[in-house]
Amino acid sequence: MTTFRAFRIHQDDAGHRAGIETMAIEDLTAGEVLVRAEWSSVNYKDALAGTGKGKILRHYPLNGGIDVAGTVVASADPAFREGDRVLATGSGLSETLDGGYGEYVRLPAAWTVALPASLTTREAMIIGTAGFTAGLALLRMTENRQTPSLGPIAITGATGGVGMLGIDIFTGAGYEVHAISGKADRFDTLRALGATTCVDRHTLAFSGKPMESARYGGLLDNVGGATLAGFLPAIAPYGNAAICGLAGSPALATTVMPFIIRGVSVLGIASAGTARDVRDEVWRRLSGEWKPRHLDTICTKEVALEDVASVFGTMLDGGSFGRTVVRIAG
Ligand SMILES: NC(=O)c1ccc[n+]([C@@H]2O[C@H](COP(=O)([O-])OP(=O)(O)OC[C@H]3O[C@@H](n4cnc5c(N)ncnc54)[C@H](OP(=O)(O)O)[C@@H]3O)[C@@H](O)[C@H]2O)c1
Repeated sequence: MTTFRAFRIHQDDAGHRAGIETMAIEDLTAGEVLVRAEWSSVNYKDALAGTGKGKILRHYPLNGGIDVAGTVVASADPAFREGDRVLATGSGLSETLDGGYGEYVRLPAAWTVALPASLTTREAMIIGTAGFTAGLALLRMTENRQTPSLGPIAITGATGGVGMLGIDIFTGAGYEVHAISGKADRFDTLRALGATTCVDRHTLAFSGKPMESARYGGLLDNVGGATLAGFLPAIAPYGNAAICGLAGSPALATTVMPFIIRGVSVLGIASAGTARDVRDEVWRRLSGEWKPRHLDTICTKEVALEDVASVFGTMLDGGSFGRTVVRIAG
């Protein structure tokens, strides 16, 4: 029996608890592809799951970590062989399946992505769910006729993982990006990623009118609530608002005006369950023409598996700055 270390999350009569435990490979949730994990990452959802502040896991106990990249040890599916480098983001990890915060993980073949040749496992995890989400937003927006000529893209929650990767990916694809952030001391970094304008979210004053002058071609929103409601009336005709997150609030109070007068589209972005063909397309782009050019800047922290919980509090308090990768092995 092979045993290994994992950050395991429990919820039972004694309440929520999570920490490093030793467990057996035989006790992992089912999946055709057994992977020796090398890197994972920390996403907002991981912080919610790891602290018990959000209901992410559908059953307990499970290993945390919605992202993982590593090397195949054994596969019951002929699509993967021992020694292959693979990754997975979302896909039920740390929701219904044991996740990436463990030295081993079993992945369903249907959710396992072959690591693109142009990415290392560490780079894939700097991108992780955050970068996949920004890439999925760009794919959906361009499929819905977003072009740079419509005007700048506003990105909220700009210092977060989705935000910083979004700035890099959208500017790399030819868009002008305006970064909306609560951290004025990070504006230099946001500009270095490609943002042409940085706006302090604490100074935003929305008029509350149902329509504003059309200042933005589109929106990548990580924040929700009044911020999202405030930007929708300022989107140009037939621009898109890609709705990713709720770091500010899950609420949305708005009017139908931007949609019926300007044809603005709201595109829901749900990275976890993205269909296989779309998932492959997003990773093909992220490892090719959309590959973020500033991964070293965006990766602001590296923690060992046993220290993963140390990041959660800052993240849930809105203090994120870039991406944290988790070193599992190697
Ligand atoms: N739909 C999906 O598939 C998907 C995938 C990944 C993430 N998400 C969601 O997207 C959001 C961002 O995720 P992430 O991983 O990038 O998180 P993150 O790294 O923690 O970044 C969140 C950012 O949001 C801003 N923020 C935090 N609290 C805020 C508040 N009260 N009001 C306004 N802005 C606030 C902060 O940026 P500034 O200080 O720069 O403003 C913070 O850095 C989260 O809600 C997450 O759940 C969704």
